Amino acid sequence: MKITVVGAGFVGATTAQRLAEKELGDIILHDIVEGMPQGKALDMMQSACLEGFDSEVKGTNDPADYAGSDIVVITSGLARQPGMSRDDLLAKNAEIVGGVADNVKKYAPEAIVIVVSNPLDVMTYLVAAKTGFPKHRVMGMAGVLDSARFRCFIAQELGVSHKDVEAMVLGSHGDDMVPLARYCTVSGIGIEALLPKDKIDAMIARTRGGGAEIVKLLQKGSAYYAPSSAAVQMVQSIVRDEKRVMPVAAYCTGQYGIKGQFVGVPVQLGRKGIEKIIELELTEDELKQLQVSAGHVAETVAALKL
Ligand code: 2OP
Repeated sequence: MKITVVGAGFVGATTAQRLAEKELGDIILHDIVEGMPQGKALDMMQSACLEGFDSEVKGTNDPADYAGSDIVVITSGLARQPGMSRDDLLAKNAEIVGGVADNVKKYAPEAIVIVVSNPLDVMTYLVAAKTGFPKHRVMGMAGVLDSARFRCFIAQELGVSHKDVEAMVLGSHGDDMVPLARYCTVSGIGIEALLPKDKIDAMIARTRGGGAEIVKLLQKGSAYYAPSSAAVQMVQSIVRDEKRVMPVAAYCTGQYGIKGQFVGVPVQLGRKGIEKIIELELTEDELKQLQVSAGHVAETVAALKL
């Protein structure tokens, strides 16, 4: 497999490192900054004998190196600074990500594309529009990350193994994401049987602000350890045709009453990309929250005037 990671900042470089260490393929790490992707790739390759991986990582400034990629992960763009919402990045990142999409279309027309840049759902729409790729080959990484944050808070609150906690967060990667407490479990036990409502509500609020909490702490830039892990889990499910079920920003064609939008919904992810969108049974209130979230994405997409 050939996997291209576009953007060699913290998210992109950590994604490349995790992909190499898991030997999911050979990796192209691309950035426009001269020397930076080459330096990071060389540094990673010098860890290969110590970490014991045989993946090749090549740093480049030339998008022609995307040629033949099976998967492209787009991490390019500005990260949030304290006090900024993801939507504040819209104009600048649309310009950057739009340019990347043109290159992907030109050099890697058969690739499956995973978008990580913010505002996530809108950038995913932009990449789909610019490349014209079939919609099952374009998706955004966010639900896996937001669910991982929810899972972390639940595990810490209950003092149980992180491995035993499952969670499901739908909707856009923004303040109106929809963490579904009814679908969160600890080894199959619903969390509503394990925790009082006020504790669950507090964790839902913390999950919604999970990215901002880290931006505030870091003061410069945003999270990258969990975002890169989430992107890599999606890549792995595709590369190994695992058909894992996870929430990703996928193009809805009427599911959940949402049409013509990318928004976080549970999908089955395999070698062909999004192989199926899974329709959970939602309460009226959960469905409404999801539709409000999708409506917000639609408004931001409209502001792009594509
Ligand atoms: C986050 O939630 C960067 O949007 C990303 O941390």
